[in-house]
Amino acid sequence: MRLSVILKEDNMKDIQALNTKIEYITNKDIDAAFLENAAIILRKGGIVAFPTETVYGIGANALDEDAVKKIFVAKGRPSDNPLIVHIDKVEDLKIVVADVPEVAKKLIDKFWAGPLTIILKKSEKIPYVVTAGLETVAIRMPADDIACKFIELAGVPVAAPSANLSGRPSPTCAEHVIEDLSGRVDCIIAGSKSKVGIESTVIDLTSVPPVILRPGFITKEQIEDVIGNVVEIDSDSNKDIPISPGLKYRHYSPKAPLTLFMGEDDNMVQEIVNSSKKYIKDNKKIGIICCDEHKNRYESLFKGMVYIQSLGSANKPETMVENLFEVLRKFDKWNVTHILSESFSEVGIGKALMNRLVKASSGRIVRC
Ligand code: TXA
Ligand code: MG
Repeated sequence: MRLSVILKEDNMKDIQALNTKIEYITNKDIDAAFLENAAIILRKGGIVAFPTETVYGIGANALDEDAVKKIFVAKGRPSDNPLIVHIDKVEDLKIVVADVPEVAKKLIDKFWAGPLTIILKKSEKIPYVVTAGLETVAIRMPADDIACKFIELAGVPVAAPSANLSGRPSPTCAEHVIEDLSGRVDCIIAGSKSKVGIESTVIDLTSVPPVILRPGFITKEQIEDVIGNVVEIDSDSNKDIPISPGLKYRHYSPKAPLTLFMGEDDNMVQEIVNSSKKYIKDNKKIGIICCDEHKNRYESLFKGMVYIQSLGSANKPETMVENLFEVLRKFDKWNVTHILSESFSEVGIGKALMNRLVKASSGRIVRC
């Protein structure tokens, strides 16, 4: 079932004043007529949330300065945090960037359409409001059919950050977008759950060697197989001067403080058990994030007293990343007061998982 929400068709003047009209569409196929309406809203200068294979995005015509500004207002996003421009075909790169170096061509051939964002020198057509004043622009071609059809129908490059309120966990299903942005955007294209569930890998190709600014579904190893040596920014390096403006902001934060426990498996589980006991004694409502392999150890002690959420098997990090944001939002719904999270292997896509957990913890890390 596809749930669709149309909020308003013309440009919004006062985001608080919007009426929310919710429309349920049951056809399995892409509803081109509905997408055409959403595309018209975007072309007229409105903002539209749409699904992608990574997370939902909130889009505006990337060539329209005023439209792009509305995204920052709707999300409460600081204006010095630049946006990713989304295109539906490689030819459209020439609208967005000044030129396409060989290294970019290789990555595009291998990973597009898909969850890889590349940063190149921007073209003159891209307004500085998109790039937050930078001479570079981030570009991505999503793999999701609805996203591609929507961008194609819009007929313009689409600037789109993740469709969450600034600082909140990224949205991996329509309900998350409705929760955060209902009444703040002109239209929500509500499709199914995002398949990947974590944001794209962001790589800056204007430096030599290229720098991975945000780990994502495409791993460093996969990228190095195609273009050789690249550098990766450390998740803990927020203290350094950020190369990517987005790195300095609070991110992926559930409402309750999240403490991340890092160490050998047995020590980590024991520390989480000890902390849970203390919080339970103080009548706190706790959420535990763990892997399948450890779930029973918590359930045998705390069943019915603590919210225990496994992200999946520790051997399947791609499932764990897919579930992370959803679990964080569930804890919000249940009004837990403290989240205690295990840490996981940083091999391959585990790197992206740990990057998001470290950021969600805002530095509350217990080494055990
Ligand atoms: O999967 C994704 O990438 C999703 C979907 C909607 O495409 N989008 C997304 O956008 O995660 P956002 O805005 O939440 O994250 C974009 C990141 C931010 O950390 C931003 O600072 C960085 O990319 N970024 C964008 N343009 C940049 C630039 N020119 N130089 C350095 N970093 C840039
Ligand atoms: Mg985001």
